[in-house]
Amino acid sequence: MNATHPTEAPLSVYEMVFPDKTNHYSTLFGGQVMQLMDKAAFIVATRRARRHVVTVASDNVSFKAPVKVGHLVEVRATLTKVGRTSMQVFTELFSEDTLSEDRTLCASGSFTLVALNHGGKPVAVSPATTAVGGQA
Ligand SMILES: CC(C)(COP(=O)(O)OP(=O)(O)OC[C@H]1O[C@@H](n2cnc3c(N)ncnc32)[C@H](O)[C@@H]1OP(=O)(O)O)[C@@H](O)C(=O)NCCC(=O)NCCS
Repeated sequence: MNATHPTEAPLSVYEMVFPDKTNHYSTLFGGQVMQLMDKAAFIVATRRARRHVVTVASDNVSFKAPVKVGHLVEVRATLTKVGRTSMQVFTELFSEDTLSEDRTLCASGSFTLVALNHGGKPVAVSPATTAVGGQA
């Protein structure tokens, strides 16, 4: 069987950009962009570890284009590395005009999350059933 384990596959999180999340330029506020990327990374890491996880670092976050109000956002999150207790997730945020086929890469960045035990201490992540990237 050559099926990709669901927790190793890239994940997409979708969100509509409504005015309550924008700045006074009617574009998505930068903090909201990071929140969406962090949330997608959180889901990927939680599903991989099946533990409580917290974000310990974000790296190389770059904002490449503004996200307009009324657009649909897709955050694609991919598990790129599993350490002993930490996991690294690469995220890309795309903006889509729902009335056309226009789609733009607006931001990207990596997030490192750590699995915690019930005492809030880092705990080892179990070995993968498939390697990162979904290859058995
Ligand atoms: C996450 C936390 C428990 C880690 O504690 P710690 O004492 O740094 O733990 P460790 O030194 O054992 O590091 C744990 C893992 O995190 C990694 N790590 C720690 N700081 C890091 C950083 N700045 N960047 C990348 N990785 C980091 C370590 O390399 C280690 O990875 P590994 O086990 O895969 O080798 C602690 O830093 C914490 O509680 N931070 C606050 C988290 C939080 O509130 N986030 C926001 C809300 S989700």
